[in-house]
Amino acid sequence: MSESQFSEQNYRLFSQFLETASGIVLGENKQYLVKSRLTSHVKIQGVSNLDQLIEKIVIKRDRQAQLAAIEAMTTNETLWFRDSYPFSLLENTILPKYENRSSPLKIWSAACSSGQEAYSIGMTILNYRKKRSGSLRAGAQILGTDISEEMLQKCRDAEYDQLAMSRGLPEIFKQEYFESASSGKSKIKAQLKTMASFRQLNLLDNFSALGRFDIIFCRNVLIYFSPELKRQILQKIAACLQDDGVLFVGASESISDLVDQFSMVRCNPGLYYTKKTQ
Ligand SMILES: C[S@@+](CC[C@H](N)C(=O)[O-])C[C@H]1O[C@@H](n2cnc3c(N)ncnc32)[C@H](O)[C@@H]1O
Repeated sequence: MSESQFSEQNYRLFSQFLETASGIVLGENKQYLVKSRLTSHVKIQGVSNLDQLIEKIVIKRDRQAQLAAIEAMTTNETLWFRDSYPFSLLENTILPKYENRSSPLKIWSAACSSGQEAYSIGMTILNYRKKRSGSLRAGAQILGTDISEEMLQKCRDAEYDQLAMSRGLPEIFKQEYFESASSGKSKIKAQLKTMASFRQLNLLDNFSALGRFDIIFCRNVLIYFSPELKRQILQKIAACLQDDGVLFVGASESISDLVDQFSMVRCNPGLYYTKKTQ
């Protein structure tokens, strides 16, 4: 039997495990995804095929195999200034409201992947402050969180290869906020790097201890979850957003039919949500 084969029953067991552990819903006919993401784990985990690997994960509950499988099943696609409009709205519409703020603006990039979103927010703020001297004097604290430790390490390393650098980063920002690293990659300069901190967080868990944020980016992650789970996460997000705080979701995501704690603000182009004051 080939190492990449597994039974229909084990596919269902693995799907249930993944949804319970991470919220990610595989649905029907995603056997190919399990095969392509987990076959390389078979040897590493000392088993002979995917059937045995799934049993190790789901039945024997081997923690290390579980964590590796969750990492492998996450989709970490991201790029600088993704969809562009959230960052132009941030600069032109949202930051001016905080112009005279005397404490640091608190911003959360939930599901930050390898850090491009958090650092794009940082570049937008630095650029804003540079253009309007004296504004946002206390700066901003950006928190990036993700379920994947591997991605968080990339955020903390803050070094990006040529392919990553070629995706969405304006040349002028590249010149200003990056330098060459000994690894041959491009490294984020200290001024930007120190604006952001990163920690592991599973959006399924309670995150009230994070405190309250002025602005939250929760983009391109809710799409992997069931409607009920999306609703629960959005309610927890509303609870940790300041009154009148701002929420950005992914360009193809809509949350209006799930929760009523947010008002949609349509812009041209794009949209964002504000928390309704109770
Ligand atoms: C497609 S990336 C989105 C990155 C970024 N927000 C963007 O829009 O470019 C989705 C991220 O969600 C993370 N993720 C998946 N399930 C999660 C969970 N339950 N809790 C926290 N992060 C999760 C993945 O590890 C991945 O890095």
